Amino acid sequence: MPETSAPATPKPQRPKKGATLDLTIEKFADRGKSLARLNGYVVFVAGAVPGDMVRAKLFKRRRGFGEARLLDVLEPSPLRTEPRCEYFSGCGGCKWQHVDYTAQLDAKRQSVAEALAHTGGFEDIEVRPTMGADDIYYYRNKMEFSFSAQRWLTDWEIASGEDFDRDFALGLHVPGRFDKVLDLKACYLQSEWSARLVNATRDFAQERGWTPWDVHKKVGYLRHLVLRTPEHIDEKMVNLVTNGHDEERIAAYAAFLQAEFPEATTLINTINTGVAQTSYGEAMHTIFGSGVVHDRIGEHTFEIAPNAFFQTNTRQAEKLYAIAAKFAELQPDDLVYDLYCGAGTISLFIAEQVREVVGVELVEEAVQNAKANAAANGVDNCTFVTGDMLKLFTPDFVEAQGKPDVLIVDPPRAGLHPKVVDQIGSLKPERFVYVSCNPQSQARDLSYLKDQYRIEAVQPVDLFPHTHHVENVISLRAR
Ligand SMILES: C[S@@+](CC[C@H](N)C(=O)[O-])C[C@H]1O[C@@H](n2cnc3c(N)ncnc32)[C@H](O)[C@@H]1O
Repeated sequence: MPETSAPATPKPQRPKKGATLDLTIEKFADRGKSLARLNGYVVFVAGAVPGDMVRAKLFKRRRGFGEARLLDVLEPSPLRTEPRCEYFSGCGGCKWQHVDYTAQLDAKRQSVAEALAHTGGFEDIEVRPTMGADDIYYYRNKMEFSFSAQRWLTDWEIASGEDFDRDFALGLHVPGRFDKVLDLKACYLQSEWSARLVNATRDFAQERGWTPWDVHKKVGYLRHLVLRTPEHIDEKMVNLVTNGHDEERIAAYAAFLQAEFPEATTLINTINTGVAQTSYGEAMHTIFGSGVVHDRIGEHTFEIAPNAFFQTNTRQAEKLYAIAAKFAELQPDDLVYDLYCGAGTISLFIAEQVREVVGVELVEEAVQNAKANAAANGVDNCTFVTGDMLKLFTPDFVEAQGKPDVLIVDPPRAGLHPKVVDQIGSLKPERFVYVSCNPQSQARDLSYLKDQYRIEAVQPVDLFPHTHHVENVISLRAR
C-alpha cells in the first residue's frame, strides 16, 4: 500500500505589489527593520515600532518576504516616544529616536538572543540585559558632515512654503541617497558646540560664495567637515575637506575659527580632488595646532590623528573593554592575544593586569598608532604585529609568540574567516572572549566551535543609542 503523504503546509498568501495593508508589528528584526506577518507572509516596515498597528504599502514582493512603506500609524505602540530631533523623519543618523530607550535596549538584547538561537543553534543561552548608555544624546566624539550642491528638503520644509536655497547643504546624507544631503541646523549626536560650528561654517562659506561639491558635475570647493571632540580631554579638531588647496581661503577660515571658536585646538585641511565621496584625501595640511587630538580610555591617553580609528563613543567603549577584561579573568602571568587590535586600545586597557599582550592588526597605520600609544603611556609589555589574520595566524606564529592563555578577538562585521576559526579551535586556550559588532557573524563563528568551547556569559553593550547597532561580548571556556 502506498504511504499517504503528510498534508502540505499551506503557503502563505502573498499580497499584490502596491497593495495597502493594515499590519500589527510583531518585533524588530535583523538590522533594525520592523516585522509583521500577514497570513503567514513576512512583511518588513521601516520606521514602524513593535506593537504599532500601521497602514503600509507593499513595494517589494519576494517569495519569502515583502517590504512595505509606512503610510499611517493607526494605533501607536506604547514603546513609541516623541523624537527629539526635528530632522528625524528624513535623517539617517538616529533611526530609532522614536523608540523608548528601554525598548531599544531590549530589542538589542533580543537580536543577540535570536542570532545565538537561530544562526548559532545554541539553546538556552542567557543573554544579559544590554548595558545602556548614560548619555543617549551627544555621545559621539567624531562626526563627518558633508557639503552638497544637492540639498534635500524635509517634508516640513516643503510644507512651510518657504523659498529654500537648494544648491547648498551642510549636514548628513539622506539614507539611500548618495547625492542628497539634509541641511542640518541641529544635531544631537556630537555636541552643541559642533552644531554651532556647522551652522557658522555654512554661513561663513555662503557669505563668501564658496561652492559645495556637486556630485554629478564633480565640481565645487567644499566637501566634508569632520569634527573630533574627545570626551575626556579638552581638545577639538576641525578637518575641512576641500577639492584643492586654496591658501587664501583656508587662512580666512582659520582666522574665523580662532576668533569665533577658540576651543578648536587644531585645524586640518584635507585635500580630496578625486571622485570618491570620502573625507580621506591625497594630502593633509595642518593649518594650526598639532594636527592631532587626544582622548583617554581607562588609565591611558591615546593620540588620535585625523584618519585614525578610535571608538566613537568613548564612555561606552570603556564599559565594553571593562566587560571584555572581566570576562577574560586576567591573571598576572597571562599571555593574551588581542586579535584585530586596531590601535591597541584593548591591549593597553588590559596590559597592566597581565604578563604580556600580543596584538595583531591588518592596517599598518593602526599598528604604528598602537606602538606609539603604548610608548607614550609607558607600557612595555605589548607587541603589535601587522598582518592579515588569515595568513599570519598559523602554528608558526604561535610558536614564535608563545601559546596564549587568553584569546580576545574583535573582528570587523564580517566576523572570522573559517580558517581563523579552525586555528582557534586547535589552539584552544582556556579563556576566549569574542567582542563583536555583528551578533549574526559572531553566532555563526561560535557555532563551529561548539565542541571546543562552551558559552559562559553574553553581554550586549550599547555604543550607538537610537540605532539598531549593538556590540556584544561573549565569554567562552574551553571544554
Ligand atoms: C572592530 S575593529 C576592532 C578595533 C579595536 N579592537 C578597537 O576596539 O578599537 C576591527 C579591526 O580589525 C582589523 N582587521 C580587519 N580585517 C583584518 C584581518 N584580516 N587581519 C587583521 N586585522 C584585520 C581592522 O583594520 C580593524 O582595526
